[in-house]
Amino acid sequence: MLVFQRLRRLYILAITLLFCIIFIQFIPYFGTGLGTSPLTCRLSATPPHIPSSHASNNCPLLSTSRPQADSSDTKLASALSPAELLCRSPKSLQGGIPKLLHQSWKSTELPAKFKKWSNTCRRQHPDWEWVLWTDEDNLQLVKQYFPWLEDTFLSLPGNIYRADLARNLYMYLFGGVYADLDTECLRPTLSGLASQNISLPDQHSKTFGDEASMARVALFGRMGSDPTFDHSIPNAWMAASAGHPFFLFPMSSAQAEIQKSRRILHSWWYDYPSAEQLTGPIALRKNVKQYESCGDAANTIIVLPDSMVYPFNWNTEEDVRSPCSAEKETFNETQCKNVLGVDLKGSISITYWSHTHRGKGSDMENIERISQDK
Ligand SMILES: *[C@@H]1O[C@H](CO)[C@@H](O)[C@H](O)[C@H]1NC(C)=O
Ligand SMILES: *[C@@H]1O[C@H](CO)[C@@H](O)[C@H](O)[C@H]1NC(C)=O
Repeated sequence: MLVFQRLRRLYILAITLLFCIIFIQFIPYFGTGLGTSPLTCRLSATPPHIPSSHASNNCPLLSTSRPQADSSDTKLASALSPAELLCRSPKSLQGGIPKLLHQSWKSTELPAKFKKWSNTCRRQHPDWEWVLWTDEDNLQLVKQYFPWLEDTFLSLPGNIYRADLARNLYMYLFGGVYADLDTECLRPTLSGLASQNISLPDQHSKTFGDEASMARVALFGRMGSDPTFDHSIPNAWMAASAGHPFFLFPMSSAQAEIQKSRRILHSWWYDYPSAEQLTGPIALRKNVKQYESCGDAANTIIVLPDSMVYPFNWNTEEDVRSPCSAEKETFNETQCKNVLGVDLKGSISITYWSHTHRGKGSDMENIERISQDK
């Protein structure tokens, strides 16, 4: 009899324990809905510490690692190596958009078409600096300025996830413009925005040097006319003042997702979200919506109309895709720009969506395609 009662108690205890474990696994979902990040607006009030004095002892060693200067063409934005940029103190006290163009690829060897399009961007911004980040540089950036994010960064399931996340770090730390390498720049960014009556905070909008009252801006582009489409705010182009708190949202939501993936029971059936969902365009749109609902008046977000940076919507009719998609045999940039009327629309750039990544890895066929320039 006694043995039976003891067993029953053990049995009840075991069942209770099991339910507790299952319950704990689901806590992150409550109140947020499946797949949305458990962030709150409080995040913007507590940015992580960014050291203002960098690890200068690393600098002499790093800056010799990669000469990138392409001195033959003086009308191009001057090449600045990531190592050099990392050695500068982040310019967190400027309200406008710094004259700094960021691009990234797995290495410094750009496929032919990327090189050509990248040069169109440098040519439209001759008085800017241009930084090409590699996978290796991105890791260095994280280690140096975002050590709290290193574990998350390394745990992401592919380099495309890391490249997607890193552009938010460039924006947060340095500001400027980020553009994917399959982007052709059609006119200078700042005058292009001004001519479309997009007003930016003053480049030097400082009130008595008070950082808290400074106005920062982050710009993204709309693609297509359906704002409910979950790819409608791509991350192929972004522009921002340094230190804009929005960019902490993508970092924190990636961190939360990685932590979620590690829950013991969860990992039994956990499958990583795609790069688009975790760090790419779908995540960007979700984070923009969330940030906008927080209403930070000093640090605004502008989503530019669809003609501005994504005049080519990849989710469109075949007669536009045929000349405009870099994945097609029929791709013809001149024809594409004519079809879309980018001159009349005042577009500042166009992304041809070369799709060099598939799933968690590279798409070799598409890389081969953009490696040929004809
Ligand atoms: C910008 O504003 C000016 C002056 O208000 C106006 O004449 C012009 O048409 C506007 N341009 C666009 C693209 O809306
Ligand atoms: C691309 O289109 C333009 C204008 O339609 C045409 O003149 C040109 O020959 C085409 N280029 C190629 C390589 O087909």
